Amino acid sequence: MVDLRAQLDEVRARFAPECAHAATTQEIEALRVRYLGKKGEITLVLRGMGQLPAEDRPAAGQAANEAREALEAALAAREAVVAADERAARMARERIDVTLPGLRSPMGARHPLTKAIDEICGVFLGLGYSIAEGPEVELDRYNFEMLNTPAGHPARDTQDTFYVSDTVLLRTQTSPVQVRVMESTRPPIRIVCPGRVYRSDTIDATHSAVFHQIEGLAVDKGITMGDLVGSLQLYARRLFGEGTRIRLRPHHFPFTEPSAEVDVSCWVCGGKGCRTCKGEGWVEMLGAGMVHPKVLAGCGIDPEVYSGFAFGIGVERTAMARFGIEDMRALYENDVRFLVQFK
Ligand code: DAH
Repeated sequence: MVDLRAQLDEVRARFAPECAHAATTQEIEALRVRYLGKKGEITLVLRGMGQLPAEDRPAAGQAANEAREALEAALAAREAVVAADERAARMARERIDVTLPGLRSPMGARHPLTKAIDEICGVFLGLGYSIAEGPEVELDRYNFEMLNTPAGHPARDTQDTFYVSDTVLLRTQTSPVQVRVMESTRPPIRIVCPGRVYRSDTIDATHSAVFHQIEGLAVDKGITMGDLVGSLQLYARRLFGEGTRIRLRPHHFPFTEPSAEVDVSCWVCGGKGCRTCKGEGWVEMLGAGMVHPKVLAGCGIDPEVYSGFAFGIGVERTAMARFGIEDMRALYENDVRFLVQFK
């Protein structure tokens, strides 16, 4: 009896520091198995009870139960502490600080060229025009031939470009879209065609080998130069302000007769002369004219019945004027510090 009690005390003495040092719920579970399990230390001591005299057994049983309860209570108390620590550690590990600023995706802005194209096309859409498009890899036939610019014509030299083959090239102008539209639709025709064009120009502050134009074409019965002037006047006012005037200077384009270069009165100085217009009071903005009878006839439109006007607007030139951009190259460099200014 004394022996059994001493054994229990010895087990409890070993258990106490182990329990106090158990640092995880797994370690506590392992202790529970080792001391209180089916083959645990307390169980082994209780096996020895069989050898005790019958009168000693109740007291021994009571001592064993006390020991078991004490161990269970100690394990439960330690487990509560360890589980709380583990939970706190997990919370700290998985903590999300919702007060931190989020990751921002900065909002971009529309490119000034896109803005200029939308503004210009918008004016003509308001006049009942529709948008037409054509290929950038174009047939010589459409880019030159049918625009009254046959092989050997001097106007070809000023628009030297990138040839894909003898008959295929990167278009030098959006004017071939005029021909494509007139070939495939009958008057009345009113279209604008924005697009990219190519010339083997050396790149500098005012030139690029790739740039943009907007072609315009109106064909109907009784269209006159007065219609051309009126339409372009409206375009200039919408883009550069109500007081803006236009001026036509005689010029030559193979596919229009008569032809003109069109200037817009300076929107900065109102025509007095300043830095923007280089003292001229006017800024050159586009080419225009009455569609050449040969071009109409070539597309199967009778020039005795129909007439039309056409124009070609330089988009870069317009955007630079409109937004005060001094170097064309800024339009192609994709530098956000430049682009965010056009929000
Ligand atoms: N295609 C001409 C150029 O690139 C611009 C032009 C002038 C277009 C007169 C026209 C026009 O439609 O009538 O220089």
